[in-house]
Amino acid sequence: MIELKRMSWNVDLYNEKHGFVHRFGSQLIDLLEPKSGERILDLGCGSGQLTERIAASGAEVIGIDSSAEMISAASKLYPNQKFYLMDAASFSFQEPFDAIFSNAVLHWVEDQKSAASNMFQHLKAGGRLVVEFGGYGNVATVINALRSSLKSRGFYKNASLERWYFPSIAAYTSLLEDVGFEVVLAQLYDRPTLLDSKNEGIKDWIEMFGFHFFQGINPVEKAAVLTDVQNSVRSTCYIDEQWYADYRRIRVVAAKK
Ligand code: BEZ
Repeated sequence: MIELKRMSWNVDLYNEKHGFVHRFGSQLIDLLEPKSGERILDLGCGSGQLTERIAASGAEVIGIDSSAEMISAASKLYPNQKFYLMDAASFSFQEPFDAIFSNAVLHWVEDQKSAASNMFQHLKAGGRLVVEFGGYGNVATVINALRSSLKSRGFYKNASLERWYFPSIAAYTSLLEDVGFEVVLAQLYDRPTLLDSKNEGIKDWIEMFGFHFFQGINPVEKAAVLTDVQNSVRSTCYIDEQWYADYRRIRVVAAKK
């Protein structure tokens, strides 16, 4: 049986080569419209860049993340902010929030129902949820190529792994409504994403985020799979000498009435 839990994040690599994750988050902060005096939760804060930017509004912001490495990095980078090691399904605070914000994280959460319900419980009446993450069809070009290469090399179990939650609008808004939210905005949109590393773009992306597909596979075979994938997606993902991943985002704003 393949164990799906994350071991640890390489925070330096994440920030050095995958900084686009928090750069895109700025647009979501515009949608959040944080205000001075509000209490806001940044769910899945990573190394804290967006927490800090939300706090610039004068709101009190708390960042949580399920990675000890990320929380440790965030606390060092932004010592004036509060960061806690907690996950989406079980985080717990006594004081409710005016808003919960989450960028590029919820696709990792295994127990979506508990996460949705926990977010609802932690909002004040009149509070809002503003989230964006991988939506239905996200990175399908890259993942289909990865599954095909794994299968062609005999790694059937690895090829059939499902680790991410990339819901349709219907699936995610129904889930939120089931726990009590009123959904006021839902969008699914293509956002081809320029990858930071020029030569090894798709390989680096898979190494950083698709690590679970390689459990039990030796480094030589892994390198061969990465090369297969890079060759297979080149015609779609390599444009004007730059690598793109075929991101599709689901963006949702929901209210607790
Ligand atoms: C995303 O942001 O869409 C994503 C990141 C890592 C793994 C899968 C998806």
